[in-house]
Amino acid sequence: MSNEVVFFKWSPEYSVNIKTIDDQHQELVNILNRLFVAVSKREGDKAIAGILDALVTYTQTHFALEERLMQQAKYKDFDAHKAEHQKLLDQLDQLCKKHLLEEKAIYFEMLRFLKIWLKEHIQGVDTKYSSALQQAGFSVAAWEHEASAEFALMSDSKKWWEVWKAA
Ligand SMILES: [Fe+2]
Repeated sequence: MSNEVVFFKWSPEYSVNIKTIDDQHQELVNILNRLFVAVSKREGDKAIAGILDALVTYTQTHFALEERLMQQAKYKDFDAHKAEHQKLLDQLDQLCKKHLLEEKAIYFEMLRFLKIWLKEHIQGVDTKYSSALQQAGFSVAAWEHEASAEFALMSDSKKWWEVWKAA
């Protein structure tokens, strides 16, 4: 495994100092890396489509949780942040549609786009809400306790991890 190229290597500098959110960001990075491997090894349309589906579903789930946190904490830039999330989902949807029409060349464009987006989003806007919440005295620990049960329920209903077993 030592000579294996990791497409997106997680680094502590991407931490937003909220464990639940960091864990989910790492999971997004994992799915992106999984997509890179599948594309590089030409695993076939069905496998790749399954990973793309997992990526979109997990992204939606993660955004929903993040938005709930910001809303509960009455974060002042909530609307702008939510709009960024929606924009990404729209772009992802457009890329998926483009992929259906233009076939394989789209994967690398998509991977590159997602890697840059994720890095910039985490280090830019996610870090901002995280520090604003902590400065405002919002109890992240209490929220995390509640969120972990909630997130488990959200994940249960989606079964997104099935794709890993099938791949
Ligand atoms: Fe975000």
